[in-house]
Amino acid sequence: MYNKEKIVVNGFEHIGYEPETYTEEEMISRSASFYNWLDKRRSVREFSDKPVPKEIIENLILSASTAPSGAHKQPWTFCAISNAKLKSKIRVAAEVEEKLGYESRMSDRWKKDLTHLGTDMHKPFIETAPWIIVAFKRVYEFDQDGTKHNNYYVNESVGIACGMFISAIHNAGLVTLTHTPSPMNFLAQLLGRPSNERAYILFPVGYAKKQTFVPKLDRKKIEEVSLFFE
Ligand SMILES: Cc1cc2nc3c(=O)[nH]c(=O)nc-3n(C[C@H](O)[C@H](O)[C@H](O)COP(=O)(O)O)c2cc1C
Repeated sequence: MYNKEKIVVNGFEHIGYEPETYTEEEMISRSASFYNWLDKRRSVREFSDKPVPKEIIENLILSASTAPSGAHKQPWTFCAISNAKLKSKIRVAAEVEEKLGYESRMSDRWKKDLTHLGTDMHKPFIETAPWIIVAFKRVYEFDQDGTKHNNYYVNESVGIACGMFISAIHNAGLVTLTHTPSPMNFLAQLLGRPSNERAYILFPVGYAKKQTFVPKLDRKKIEEVSLFFE
């Protein structure tokens, strides 16, 4: 990966990097098998309470944290919760927001768009899943002298990190749900996060409940999601 070559750019050390390469045949085979493996991922809403070792969660977070980010600010914090009391508090608060959402905040169109997924205001998986991981975006930072400065492309960076997190979960043989109980301010309060952090996505992580069902969905075909200009 890295070799011994070194150069200095703008006064900063750059190190030689040799990405892994493959033959075209290998690339076709690897890209196809990666796609087929990713295509098996599904959002799961029914979890087993079977424990998952903390080391796995740490590896998942480290995987997410390899994501590219604007100016390499890595503007994310992942809070991992297995504490049953805290999970209960999060469930209660999430269900308050979800109830308001379903009863008054969401448009009829939005609710109609959700009917095929079978979701409702009840979120038992927040207590059942062994881990709840809340990804926070760090909108700004404080320098050592206390000066506040914004991070760059925060949504893009955290979105990419969360996508890599989801893939890492799938790779580990676990499941998750991308859950956004909106608004999510209650999460920063319950977890005592500072004012520069905003909850971004809540991920229950664990094993799927035995005999789990997921909505039968189709994914768009290549010609529906892409245009080639050759
Ligand atoms: C940003 C985002 C927010 C989502 N929020 C919720 C949510 O709050 N509750 C839920 O049940 N699913 C939520 N989902 C999951 C989607 O419904 C799900 O990804 C979609 O139906 C496709 O299913 P699949 O993930 O199994 O491919 C969300 C997905 C994304 C990307």
